[in-house]
Amino acid sequence: MPAPRTVLLTGAAGGLGTLMRGLLPAYGYDLRLFDAVPVEGEPDAVVADLADTGALREAVRGVDAVLHLAGISLESGFDKILRANIEGTYNLFEAARAEGVRRVVNASSNHAVGYTPRPAPGEPLVPVATPRRPDTFYGLSKCFGEDLAQLYWDKHGIETVSVRIGSCFEKPTTVRMLSLWMSPADGARLFHAALTAGEVGHTVVYGSSANTRLWWDLSPARALGYEPQDDSEPYAAELIAEQGELEDGNPDHAGIGGPWVSDPPIWPR
Ligand code: NAI
Repeated sequence: MPAPRTVLLTGAAGGLGTLMRGLLPAYGYDLRLFDAVPVEGEPDAVVADLADTGALREAVRGVDAVLHLAGISLESGFDKILRANIEGTYNLFEAARAEGVRRVVNASSNHAVGYTPRPAPGEPLVPVATPRRPDTFYGLSKCFGEDLAQLYWDKHGIETVSVRIGSCFEKPTTVRMLSLWMSPADGARLFHAALTAGEVGHTVVYGSSANTRLWWDLSPARALGYEPQDDSEPYAAELIAEQGELEDGNPDHAGIGGPWVSDPPIWPR
């Protein structure tokens, strides 16, 4: 498939959307922006909800690919998750199908496998094929997104890379993030690889930097051409001094999802 140039970026006003608006144009993309709220400094952005199927159809028309980041990014009531993440992602794929868009990069999450035990040092890394164990309704919606992408590949030939993103922020801020962190620059590298790799069908990958304390297998992401350049380790000493090491026997430290198993951050209900 030729390298996509025009990409619809949903969730453009959000944290990750803002980082990618800064980084992806250097890869040659012409970004079309979409979000439920105005995107600062971007008067041409489409301001619409994922529930607005007409606006979505118009927004995807003529783009080469979609980078789908819009949605509720924390735990919430099931009704809100249903509308934004489950129905919203369905609406996005339907719009892509109707308008003939061939490639989607879909933001999944570590919380799709949140109850999966974190491997101890020296144990095998968690493979992509591990059974999904969502830790929240939010994580469950990401499992739905992955299955929806599979359906749209098998039935309609739309190729998707679902990226189970770890934590993409400027810096890791918790000890858990030392294992999951994806630097913004590596995030752009991975999304670029996912947008341009040939013949992906529906591929699920983990998304993080090449962290010394990695918990999961990055080889499916590397197979797309992703070459991570960063490692969270320079932040380790300070974070561990502040917060202590992860403890065996602490249920909030047991799984990939960390404290989300018992105390997920809540999006306003
Ligand atoms: P965010 O909460 O900062 O941004 C999400 C954006 O989506 C917001 O600008 C919001 O207005 C928009 N949005 C929400 N509901 C919408 C709707 N119904 N219609 C249109 N727009 C809507 O989240 P962030 O951190 O930028 O994450 C982006 C994506 O990546 C999300 O899907 C999130 O679940 C996923 N993700 C992010 C991680 C991270 O480390 N930032 C980790 C794992 C997954």
